[in-house]
Amino acid sequence: MLIFFINTSIHTLFMKSFIVSIIMISAILACASKDQKNEKVVSSSKPAVDGSKIYKQSCELCHGADGKLGANGSKDLTISELDLNARIAMVTKGKGLMTPFENILSLSEIKAVAEYSMTLKK
Ligand code: HEC
Repeated sequence: MLIFFINTSIHTLFMKSFIVSIIMISAILACASKDQKNEKVVSSSKPAVDGSKIYKQSCELCHGADGKLGANGSKDLTISELDLNARIAMVTKGKGLMTPFENILSLSEIKAVAEYSMTLKK
C-alpha cells in the first residue's frame, strides 16, 4: 500500500513537471512566432511610402486635409476627374501656382501621394 502511494506521488510529480515543461515550451514557441510575425510586419511596412503622411506635409497647405481648401487657386481634389497618371504628372511637373515636386519627392513618394489624393474623391 505504501509502495503504491509513493509510486503514485512520484508519478503525479513527474506528470506535473512534464505538464509545466510543456506549458513553458509552448509559451516560448508562442513568443518566438510572435517575434517573427512582428519582424515581418516591420520589414514589409518599411519600404512602403505613406501617401497620407506626404499629403499632410506637401499638399495640405493648398488643398486642405479634405482636399477642398482651394488655397492659392488650387483645385478641389474631391471633385477632380484626373486619373492616377494625370495626378502623378500634375504632382511631378506642377501647374500654374502648384509646386512641381520632381525635385522634392521621390518617384515612389509622388506615386503614393497621388494614390492617396484619389481616396479624397467623394
Ligand atoms: C502651392 C499650393 C499647392 C500645393 C502645395 C499643391 N497643390 Fe495641387 N494644385 C494647386 C493649384 C493652384 C492647382 C490648380 C492648377 C491649375 O490647374 O492651374 C492644383 C491642382 C492639383 C491637381 C489637379 C486637380 C484637377 O482636377 O485639375 C491635383 C491632382 C493636385 N493639385 C494634387 C496635389 C498633390 C497630391 C499635392 C501634394 C504633393 C499638391 N497638389 C500640392 C496648388 C497646390
